[in-house]
Amino acid sequence: MGFPEYRPRRLRRNENLRRLLRETTPGVDDLIMPLFVRHGSGVRKEIESMPGQYQLSPDTLVEKVARIAQARIPAVILFGIPGHKDAEGSEAYSDDGVVQQSIRAVKEAKIDVLVIADVCLCGYTEHGHCGIVVDGEVDNDRTLEYLAKSALSFARAGADVVAPSDMMDGRVQAVREALDESGFTGVPIMSYAAKFASAFYGPFRDAAESSPKFGDRRSYQMDPSNSDEAMREIALDIAEGADIVMVKPALPYLDVIRRAREEFRHPLAAYCVSGEYAMIKAAARNGWLDEKGAVMEMTAGIKRAGADMILTYWAEDIAKWLKQG
Ligand code: PBG
Repeated sequence: MGFPEYRPRRLRRNENLRRLLRETTPGVDDLIMPLFVRHGSGVRKEIESMPGQYQLSPDTLVEKVARIAQARIPAVILFGIPGHKDAEGSEAYSDDGVVQQSIRAVKEAKIDVLVIADVCLCGYTEHGHCGIVVDGEVDNDRTLEYLAKSALSFARAGADVVAPSDMMDGRVQAVREALDESGFTGVPIMSYAAKFASAFYGPFRDAAESSPKFGDRRSYQMDPSNSDEAMREIALDIAEGADIVMVKPALPYLDVIRRAREEFRHPLAAYCVSGEYAMIKAAARNGWLDEKGAVMEMTAGIKRAGADMILTYWAEDIAKWLKQG
């Protein structure tokens, strides 16, 4: 059947028809809000390259998380800016670390929200790499024990989910073993399984103060050109025990999200990263595009590609916009 019998425009004539026909609708249930926390109290320091996002201290974080929970967003993910950085990233696994303190504070306030802890060393090491550096290179196997210690320390503080983002080989298995040995069999792992070496992480590195002091991350994060390799990474993480796998960034990798959905049918997250946030914000601030329209469109696109959940700095705005209809 073709024109003139079939007229696709018939079903687009008004908003009620369009609502009935809509195939993909991102909902508040799909959202995870990333937050940055540093030591101190009363801190609310705007991140220059991410307008509208802040470094918070544990007390202001608790207030923020309470508002996020009130908006019915199911989860936050925490990134820490330590008081002190060293070669072995010791605050990442100190029970007094800023993220550990923050998790306890959110839990003590009995806020009904999942607290996910990002597990990585880059924010905690003085060289800014995601692992332990030996002879100028990030040593995979030595790094595993530190990541496992960090995940365990977050679980002890009360983290509901741990999320290794370092891209070391074997880290999901190392984290799973460490959690299980200490009785945290119920704490899921969300692994950054297909994490690409992306220019879009730039603003995050300002926010988390985690830029590498030498070299770059291309010896552990993935080459942006590779999607077969992304499937191998995801398969490995699932085999090692990842409960949720992630593709990151989101927009330049919608094809990878779609492939992962079809090949694995495993719970799948996508991270709409700092650079994706910054570029839309900058354009919107210049009056070059409409922020709400652009964000809702890209969020629908990430969902349509196959993500079950989306980590996004717009989580609170999206929740508000969804309510407005
Ligand atoms: C660190 C980490 C990064 C992000 C999340 N965890 C950045 C990096 O690898 O430098 C990026 C998040 C974003 O850009 O929003 N392991």
